[in-house]
Amino acid sequence: MKTTQSGIFSLGTASHAYLEWDIADGQNPRDLVSAIASLRAPRLTTGGVNLVAGFRPELWRSVAPDDAPTDLHGFNQEIAGVDDFVMPATQHDAVIWLSGSTYDVVFDATHAIIADLKGFATVADETASWPYRHNRDLTGFVDGTENPSLLDAHDVVGIPQDRPGAGGTVLLLQKWIHDSAAWESLSVHDQEQAMGRTKPDNVELDHKPATSHVARTDQDTFGHVFRRNMPYGTTTRHGTMFVGFCAEQRPLAAMLESMAGLTNGIRDALTRYTHPLTGAYYFVPSNESLCGMDEAQK
Ligand code: HEM
Repeated sequence: MKTTQSGIFSLGTASHAYLEWDIADGQNPRDLVSAIASLRAPRLTTGGVNLVAGFRPELWRSVAPDDAPTDLHGFNQEIAGVDDFVMPATQHDAVIWLSGSTYDVVFDATHAIIADLKGFATVADETASWPYRHNRDLTGFVDGTENPSLLDAHDVVGIPQDRPGAGGTVLLLQKWIHDSAAWESLSVHDQEQAMGRTKPDNVELDHKPATSHVARTDQDTFGHVFRRNMPYGTTTRHGTMFVGFCAEQRPLAAMLESMAGLTNGIRDALTRYTHPLTGAYYFVPSNESLCGMDEAQK
């Protein structure tokens, strides 16, 4: 039985760091995977850190061809939507997501990992994130409501046991910056029309506009995903780290196309106030597959 990396399901942590990595010049992908597989986060009961590691799908496939989903590919091309809206493709070779109770433990773990991976990979992008008002994103709306429960999330996220990449999952990581001045210039009513839910009490609108975010990403249409979005940034420059997992790439990709207006010409109203700065897909292998790459354990 191949099991999904458990940090994906560790809800309620107050501090996060996302590191995207480029393989060092001349470095062998197998050695990078092995170096990441050998990382150990502090395993304390309090003050422990969750570590989730993933790889550019093509890089993982080159190292473990029999243990890679056949049709999974990186975010290799930008998505050109309607009205000149663009979702950039900023694929990197690996990703590490750390989460813990406070930023000091995440900071120390991140610092140690950067030292451990010296010579194997360089940090291409680093983002520190933190929850806002318990469960809201920086639009002020509750984020994650329509997620599957933790009991159901394993089936939504984990690739079935009889398929290549079993127990692994597909991660879409996309950093969005908010145009807060434009968003906050809207009335609460207009914000609710853009989101498709009410703001204070988080109820789905009975007659939500087709342009609303919730209509554009409707899971009954596109399939279910598990989101671990987090706010990031400073008061003057901030947004949402979209962190979405699914056993298949298609639902995530179809949601992006729908938000960009490529499905039926209707663009997501939220994209008029938030803009993607990055976009990458990673294969997050099962615990067993990743540990199997740790040369030190062999
Ligand atoms: C700035 C970026 C984003 C923000 C602030 C945001 C925020 C939200 C909020 C507040 C909701 C309503 C509550 C809920 O979570 O169910 C929601 C729903 C949802 N979002 Fe996003 N989101 C963003 C980007 C994305 C992206 C890029 C995707 C997909 C690739 C996505 C997929 C979904 C899905 C699947 C739902 C639930 C739809 C349903 O009701 O079935 N979101 N989002």
